[in-house]
Amino acid sequence: MTQSNQIDDDELFDTGDIYANRELVTVGYVPDENRIVGRQEEMRKVGQALGPGVEGGPPKNLIIYGKTGAGKSLVAKHVAQRAERRARDNGIHFVTCYVDCSNADTETRVAREMAFSIRDELSPSMEIPMNGIGAAEYYRYLWSLLDDQDVFVVILDEVDKLQEDDVLMQLSRAQESGKTDAHVGVLSVSNKIEYRDRLNKRIDSSLQDREHVFDPYDADELRSILNNRQDAFKDGVLEDGVIELTAALSAQEHGDARKAIDILQEAGELAVQENATTITETHVRAAKERAEINRFKELISGTTTHVKYTLRALALLTQDTRTDDTTAAEDWFRTNEIYAFYRDIVEHEGHNPLKKDSVYRILDEQSFLGITESRHTGGGKGQGSYLEHTLLTDPGIVLEAVADIQD
Ligand SMILES: Nc1ncnc2c1ncn2[C@@H]1O[C@H](COP(=O)(O)OP(=O)(O)OP(=O)(O)O)[C@@H](O)[C@H]1O
Ligand SMILES: [Mg+2]
Repeated sequence: MTQSNQIDDDELFDTGDIYANRELVTVGYVPDENRIVGRQEEMRKVGQALGPGVEGGPPKNLIIYGKTGAGKSLVAKHVAQRAERRARDNGIHFVTCYVDCSNADTETRVAREMAFSIRDELSPSMEIPMNGIGAAEYYRYLWSLLDDQDVFVVILDEVDKLQEDDVLMQLSRAQESGKTDAHVGVLSVSNKIEYRDRLNKRIDSSLQDREHVFDPYDADELRSILNNRQDAFKDGVLEDGVIELTAALSAQEHGDARKAIDILQEAGELAVQENATTITETHVRAAKERAEINRFKELISGTTTHVKYTLRALALLTQDTRTDDTTAAEDWFRTNEIYAFYRDIVEHEGHNPLKKDSVYRILDEQSFLGITESRHTGGGKGQGSYLEHTLLTDPGIVLEAVADIQD
């Protein structure tokens, strides 16, 4: 045997010994048909909208609403794919295309995406300019590509990110206005229920949209989704109770399937870092906490150092007063109290504290952002009323998130 202080490939690229099919829990993995759990009613709604198209008739437009991680994009893509397959079996010329409006947020970009996507599918050798032309030209390419097609279905995901609604007008009136003979159907997807009010009346009536709301998943449904991916890990790696706990923790936060899968993935990473051979409930709790810290960090990432010092002061005060039997609702602190603590912290770090007014404004701002809550209290006869503040996030999370304040 040769002695070497080189790291061999196995060790260098070691991903831990717990995974059998890691891909199943990675972000961006698109589950195939047999990994989709439940959501039958939702699939049926989308199926009903696309049904006429499968027979060569005009599909109905549908808007899907629901909170983030509710399976909207997944169900829309899945059912559209199946509709295309079924229609083609019926001898119908049916094409679909998927546009993510958070990337393509103007009419020109959406029109270009549609033209490129259909070109790639039907006529890959056709030349379409990448830039230098406007929406009208891209539509012309699109309509000409659709010449021999019976049905065109487009999924506009994250449709509320569109800066202008003209695309919806164009699509809904394409056939009526003689631009194309194909029947056009639009599946719009949004996680903002308020979006509907934004669509103006004219578009509203011309789209004749139906809508369907996806409810958040409950703990049972999340458990089934996770159970159906547990073969990401080798047998015996997931300790009893791990899936149940992950599902329960995610159900508490509006039943987001993406978050549930992320927590399981992160718990796996933590286990690998510790060279553990199993994933335990402790890993899951730590993964959830890490996710919360990251989210909180992101929330305050653009703020000044003094916002962070103020939050640190409030979090320390909260932590100090909290005993096992106090609830968050009792942890209210007056502006003065927070300011005094803030000033001590800042001076201790060798900086100049802001004036009380400014810290008051910071607290006001944080309450507007939903990080803290403020209320007026006191104000008995002859007394002034004063403002109190409470932290809405666990102080441990906040303290971790503001642990290293960079000046
Ligand atoms: N019923 C399900 N079965 C299996 N996996 C699911 C199911 N629902 C959601 N998922 C998974 O959860 C993640 C989030 O789902 P999806 O992207 O469809 O959510 P969404 O409702 O579109 O959320 P957003 O509004 O944030 O875009 C995806 O990785 C998806 O694969
Ligand atoms: Mg989505």
